[in-house]
Amino acid sequence: MEQPSAFHPASPILDFCPPSLPARWYTDPDHYARELREIQAKSWIYVGRASDLPALTLRRVEIAGQNLMLIKDEKGEIRCLHNTCRHRGSELCQHSEQKLKAKLITCPYHEWSYDLTGKLVRVPHVPETPGFDKSAHGLFTAHVKLWNGFIFVCLADDPPDFNAVPDIGAKALDNWPMENLVTGHRMTSVIKCNWKVFWENYNECLHCPGIHPTLIDMVPVYGKGVMSAAEMPGWAPGADAQSPLKSGARTWTVNGQPCGPEFANLTDAERTAAFTFVTLMPTMYVVAHVDYVRAVTVRPVSPEETELTAEWLFPAETLSAPGFDLANVVDFAATVIREDGEASEMNQRGLRNARFERGTLMPQEFDVFNFQQWVRRKLGEPLVSKEPRP
Ligand code: FES
Ligand SMILES: [Fe+2]
Repeated sequence: MEQPSAFHPASPILDFCPPSLPARWYTDPDHYARELREIQAKSWIYVGRASDLPALTLRRVEIAGQNLMLIKDEKGEIRCLHNTCRHRGSELCQHSEQKLKAKLITCPYHEWSYDLTGKLVRVPHVPETPGFDKSAHGLFTAHVKLWNGFIFVCLADDPPDFNAVPDIGAKALDNWPMENLVTGHRMTSVIKCNWKVFWENYNECLHCPGIHPTLIDMVPVYGKGVMSAAEMPGWAPGADAQSPLKSGARTWTVNGQPCGPEFANLTDAERTAAFTFVTLMPTMYVVAHVDYVRAVTVRPVSPEETELTAEWLFPAETLSAPGFDLANVVDFAATVIREDGEASEMNQRGLRNARFERGTLMPQEFDVFNFQQWVRRKLGEPLVSKEPRP
């Protein structure tokens, strides 16, 4: 191993090897329930693109085990309501998507009707009863936030500041025409691992040489087991920026060439960088390229199951251009996501072993360490005290 002194002080690389999280946090149903309560239910969770939500249609979504409904009114305003009737608790929306009749949400059980804000407006078949105040029986609501055309919901009464969530800042995608992009392809799968296993894998490239043959060909620095040159010995800040892609490539497609016109308003630095990652823990990450954008959603399903959804977003002109080759775009990242999913499942199978109580992180796993510290902080558990060097 390289001596830490070979690294620049501004390098993110760790100069110690922290302990990893307890193994039972990846399998134990009680711990899983605690994470849903303390992390998933208190964070902003991505639930879909605003442009993919039809108006006057209920869509069921689930966050932290809670059954919810998304609704867009005729003016385009999006709300999230709990999918439980205030009468005796029946589910209101029984299907993944349900068209509304007469701009009302009507309970299928005894037909109480609510307006699109959740206000109770109609209680049929019963006499006027003193002491029953309709205005006190509206549907429970959840907070909604729109960011770059993505819809986020937070179940907490007092949600965290959304702008503090994306790791490199809420403005990181400002030069991309995010609101105008349309979903050209979507891929969903359930992988057999705890949600944290997938995020830990996302947060390091130490696995890249062994797991991602096509990705390390496209991004040669990944072949060295690091995410960027800043993790290499001898690196110093201020070096001339170079594309991390192999010679001649511009973007993450099978042939390395853009799938349509490049976005007009990107800076030279954004073009040279070839990919801009924005991580919105614990729900999604976005990768913006010069020609398209990809969003990957991570949704816990059970202690050892996680749903992954990848969405590829394009300008409408790109999708409709003659000769547009969707497979050239989708196949590249789909392969990487499949490889990451298989690696995560392999990790999960191994960490069930009774002899494995916890692991040890290596210096390049500084973002896994940051993620695990974040999890500890959210759960109110003691942090690992030795921080990376100042
Ligand atoms: S439970 Fe909904 S109207 Fe009775
Ligand atoms: Fe990976």
